[in-house]
Amino acid sequence: MTKKIAVLPGDGIGQEIVAEAVKVLNVLKSDFGLDVEMEEGLVGGTAYDATGTPLPDTTLDLCKASDAVLLGAVGGYKWESLPIEVRPEKGLLGLRAGMELFANLRPAILYPQLADASTLKPEVVSGLDIMIVRELTGGIYFGQPRGVRALDNGERQGYNTLVYSESEVSRIGKVAFDIAMKRDKRVCSVDKANVLECTEMWREVMIEEGRAFPDVELSHMYVDNAAMQLVRAPKQFDVMVTTNMFGDILSDCAAMLTGSIGMLPSASLDANSKGMYEPIHGSAPDIAGQNLANPLATILSVAMMLRYTLDEPAMADRIESAVNAVLDQGKRTADIWTEGCEKIGTDVMGDAVIAAMRG
Ligand code: IPM
Ligand code: MG
Repeated sequence: MTKKIAVLPGDGIGQEIVAEAVKVLNVLKSDFGLDVEMEEGLVGGTAYDATGTPLPDTTLDLCKASDAVLLGAVGGYKWESLPIEVRPEKGLLGLRAGMELFANLRPAILYPQLADASTLKPEVVSGLDIMIVRELTGGIYFGQPRGVRALDNGERQGYNTLVYSESEVSRIGKVAFDIAMKRDKRVCSVDKANVLECTEMWREVMIEEGRAFPDVELSHMYVDNAAMQLVRAPKQFDVMVTTNMFGDILSDCAAMLTGSIGMLPSASLDANSKGMYEPIHGSAPDIAGQNLANPLATILSVAMMLRYTLDEPAMADRIESAVNAVLDQGKRTADIWTEGCEKIGTDVMGDAVIAAMRG
């Protein structure tokens, strides 16, 4: 049966990089028999400008009626001073919550061809292959109460709430353990159990969940130490599982180990492996519209979509091999360019991947 993909380019470089990923999907359709149809929707600041909201109902309905969502990025200077309820980021958070995408998979893989592009020494990062599993629909991002209130003395007080129920922790734990079973069978759960009761419970639930996976080695780390270990000796990690906010921070840190945030895809899955796929980088308004952005993270997000939602692992392999081949050819967008390589634009990078896919 034909599967449906909602395509949401969003803001800034989102437009350019999604265009390249759509080209890749169209080649899979025309040349390799992928049976999908695509429909575009508005999200983020672009949606706000057109409709007054960063997540129009039509977009959420389209996404709910689709098997998978391909998202570019949201946000930009233009919308930074809007009230928080209508900022572009709310569109993204509304999609995550509205589609119940609680499991966010953020791989940090170093392509050997890019070892020199990392700010860390090649020996620290070579061979790096970490999977960060971030809880995505709970924690302080969504906890109530939240807001800014006036105190009796006239001062304002801002507050947010870090909250997790046991079932929210155990279901993200299960995702992490399942993934570890297909990898090196090690899970490091990251918390702040020495200070925050909520994450002390998180740790207890992880230990309980882990009993169902006796083959997986479970360890625990405080988030401050985890941040330090990620830049000191990142190869000690296999799968990391953590809360929404800690995962937000640690995944940016892990991304940088690989040389460029422009290389890393992500998947956000619900309980039935329906998912939203997006690069982990943002909308980069400073380089938007200049054909400078790296489309590889978005193209690799299509590979994750093929693997996790569309059940087409051979096509996913084809994309990933093509990306490797293009890097072997020395083709680089500006963010991953080093001396001696060929600097190319967004569209030429997309074309190069397609040529390599066709072999
Ligand atoms: C991310 C982003 C988002 C987040 C923003 C854009 C709301 O930083 O996906 O990591 O904080 O989750
Ligand atoms: Mg982030």
